[in-house]
Amino acid sequence: MNCVRWIQLGLHALLCGGTTLTGAAAEANRDEARVAPYVLPDPLVRADGSRVTTGAAWLSERRPEIRQLFERHVYGRPLPRPESQRFQVVSEDREAMDGRAVRRIVNLELGTAQGMPVLRFALFLPKSPPGPLPVFFGVHVFDTAKAWPEVAVARRGASTEPSPVSGTERSIGRSVADRILSRGYGVISMDIELLAPDSVTHYASGVLSQMGQARAGAPGPEEPGALAVWAWGLSRIVDYLEQTPEFDARRAVAIGHSRMGKAALWAAACDERIAAVISNNSGCGGAALSRRNYGETVAIITRAFPHWFCGNFSTYAGREEALPVDQHELLALIAPRPVYVASAVEDWWADPKGEYLALVHASAVYALFGKPGLSGTNLPPVDTAVGSEVRYHLRAGQHDLTDFDWGRYLDFADEVLRPGRPGVNRSE
Ligand code: GCU
Repeated sequence: MNCVRWIQLGLHALLCGGTTLTGAAAEANRDEARVAPYVLPDPLVRADGSRVTTGAAWLSERRPEIRQLFERHVYGRPLPRPESQRFQVVSEDREAMDGRAVRRIVNLELGTAQGMPVLRFALFLPKSPPGPLPVFFGVHVFDTAKAWPEVAVARRGASTEPSPVSGTERSIGRSVADRILSRGYGVISMDIELLAPDSVTHYASGVLSQMGQARAGAPGPEEPGALAVWAWGLSRIVDYLEQTPEFDARRAVAIGHSRMGKAALWAAACDERIAAVISNNSGCGGAALSRRNYGETVAIITRAFPHWFCGNFSTYAGREEALPVDQHELLALIAPRPVYVASAVEDWWADPKGEYLALVHASAVYALFGKPGLSGTNLPPVDTAVGSEVRYHLRAGQHDLTDFDWGRYLDFADEVLRPGRPGVNRSE
């Protein structure tokens, strides 16, 4: 294991879970020969045992069944869409990034609490886009407080203590921001401080408490955890894009690294308006199969981060075979929309093979829509993107969101969000 990952594991064990470094890492299997055989639930078999054979039946019958299982057993009940909400532009700098970009800060206020933001995000946009702008959006893509899109540091609780996990701190730099804008995309980053701070003692202090769902301690059996609240926040960005004519909301890609990659996948599963999703090194509770005993497990993640999931998820610790769903079905919930999953060779904690296989097993659902998926049980060659609308790459190196990853994601967005492509223009 590389040194950065040791530090991550040690810090998150000490600060969040109370176990020791050697405890968390030693408990996790990283020996492929020790992965026990497992049987995945078949996404195409309905609860009554009958088989789904068409895209229409998937969308209207089977998809809602699976989504409900994720709500009950993994992420918790989704929060409702606000009855009334107001987006307030707090500031706008039209000479940002040495005059090359527009930087804007936007607050979201709910009807019940005018003047009290529940969400804040920052946008960097090219200055003179030729038409409605496609965007990448996510949580902690960059630091919203900085004048330049620089790496974001996730905050915990009400304090300014940096996140124990350096992985979430690396996300974008000036050169990547320049590339995104020069390729004609805007980029949006949301803070989690107001929404759901990343701590078991504070996660409910934001939106949940404003919605009358305040609670002390970890979520109850089916109550939403922080991932569900972050996903809700991503949907509010789509609301903003839909009502702001300078954006093309049908060409908005949700992107997330690590824990934010988990949130981006659940957001896309819940909100069909999200045109495409990119999950970078999302691992356990994200793209990686829970039944594959490699890297982080349900036991480890729910002990270290009990506030991320609904309470029921922890009851599957050590008995993942009893989970009524697995993460290939989370990816299948996104079908037929484009999905990109990426791993890193040294990021064994996130189980690259488990992330790849989840896409392979989601492919049967994409096939119902005539979309080619991925096949084969061997990981593709390093640093090579495979697939088209169901796409994967395994990058050399550590748990991170790098320039290499962004390059592949820009290419993906260019291809799958091309104006006029079916699914992009809904009128077609
Ligand atoms: C920890 C956690 C992972 C998570 C990661 C991150 O390593 O165990 O599940 O993805 O933090 O968010 O950086």
